[in-house]
Amino acid sequence: MASMKCLHMSFFFFLVVLVLLVSCAHADDKSQVEKACGQTPHPDVCVSCVNSDPSRSTSEIPELTFEILFCMMSEATHGHEVADLQAQNTSEPTLKQALQTCNVSLFSASNDLTDSFMRMEGEDYQKAEADLESANGGVLQCHKAFLKQPVITFPPQLFSHVDLAARYYDVAHIFG
Ligand SMILES: *[C@@H]1O[C@H](CO)[C@@H](O)[C@H](O)[C@H]1NC(C)=O
Ligand SMILES: *[C@@H]1O[C@H](CO)[C@@H](O)[C@H](O)[C@H]1NC(C)=O
Repeated sequence: MASMKCLHMSFFFFLVVLVLLVSCAHADDKSQVEKACGQTPHPDVCVSCVNSDPSRSTSEIPELTFEILFCMMSEATHGHEVADLQAQNTSEPTLKQALQTCNVSLFSASNDLTDSFMRMEGEDYQKAEADLESANGGVLQCHKAFLKQPVITFPPQLFSHVDLAARYYDVAHIFG
């Protein structure tokens, strides 16, 4: 319980720091984004996600967090689609089962992230974080499906979506 509370606080702290960074960002937006992302475990992934949205207006409050959650949701959704197609297309039972696990767990991760957006819009940051944690649980569940015995090869296309989703999750927790 103490660690949950700590996570909530660190998420809130993350938002506060972003707000501060973003509100000073008018002068030099690019270097501010690089600075914020530079404090995360995956600066390049963070910067390329944030810069991938041309409509971004960094003066708005938790906008960088929105961008990162959006990128994570996009990876979960695409991963779900890949897993669904490949599950339909394989007859190898072990692989099929792992793909079905990913299909379901990435689909629910994507839904959790949609919920997280809505919570953030309602400024309910504790619930937003609970949904983010739940989404990460879905991503991990897919990953674990490929670690079971007998070990099967993670299809590279699916792995790249799952791996990126996990990195975006790490970015959202830079101070955690
Ligand atoms: C993938 O998940 C969706 C949504 O839960 C489901 O409708 C579909 O049947 C699943 N596909 C496979 C191949 O299991
Ligand atoms: C389905 O499997 C066939 C035969 O292995 C392959 O040629 C095709 O590209 C696969 N389609 C998808 C969507 O994975």
